[in-house]
Amino acid sequence: MKLSVFCGVSVDGFLARPDDKLDFLDAGGGEPHGFKEFYASVDVVVMGRKTFEVVLTFGKWPYGKKPVVVLSSRPLDFSSIRDGVVEQMAGEPVKIVGQLERRGFKHAYIDGGITIQRFLAAGLIGRLVVTRVPVLIGEGIPLFGPLPRDVSLSHVATRTYRGGLVQSEYALGGANRNRPQNKAAPTRRTKGKGSK
Ligand SMILES: NC(=O)c1ccc[n+]([C@@H]2O[C@H](COP(=O)([O-])OP(=O)(O)OC[C@H]3O[C@@H](n4cnc5c(N)ncnc54)[C@H](OP(=O)(O)O)[C@@H]3O)[C@@H](O)[C@H]2O)c1
Repeated sequence: MKLSVFCGVSVDGFLARPDDKLDFLDAGGGEPHGFKEFYASVDVVVMGRKTFEVVLTFGKWPYGKKPVVVLSSRPLDFSSIRDGVVEQMAGEPVKIVGQLERRGFKHAYIDGGITIQRFLAAGLIGRLVVTRVPVLIGEGIPLFGPLPRDVSLSHVATRTYRGGLVQSEYALGGANRNRPQNKAAPTRRTKGKGSK
């Protein structure tokens, strides 16, 4: 099963403001940048509880009939979602993927900062598409966070858009699952010629 991330961030790497506002994403002018095509290619959306709560404030369920899995360790209320197909799951990312795979899903869209970070840490993300909007917001909810080990990325393409969006696409290999941890003791620095 393929797992992809497709998200928009400020140039300083934030998915949302500290109060979850997404207004700054308009800085790119709302130009089409492949999301529609990407969304058509996935057969399940997997998002974190916090993203789900923000989506509920939109008023309209934006996922149509596409199956949506909301991850949370606490009970969730889906009663306000009338037309969508939504369910809850929890646990180790690898087990969640196993369950989705057994049900025949082929391509999952993983969304939400903490959620993306957990799936990245587990070495499960295969494709990462990050669209930077031309603004710095200083603080907010980060896309990336601590990792147990380095994650290698293969650059696939970087696309630029008239309104200032810069979209970079990376492929991630299964090799990330077995990479050694980067928690080695810091190497001692020795002063040499030219060092300050
Ligand atoms: N700019 C963009 O493209 C974009 C995209 C997505 C989201 N966002 C924004 O990002 C913000 C949300 O991101 P976030 O990092 O705060 O949180 P998030 O990833 O949306 O949600 C985190 C929560 O998801 C649950 N969760 C994640 N993995 C789990 C697992 N394996 N098992 C059980 N529960 C799991 C936990 O919920 P519990 O605490 O309930 O256990 C966790 O606290 C929102 O403001 C949203 O609008 C922006």
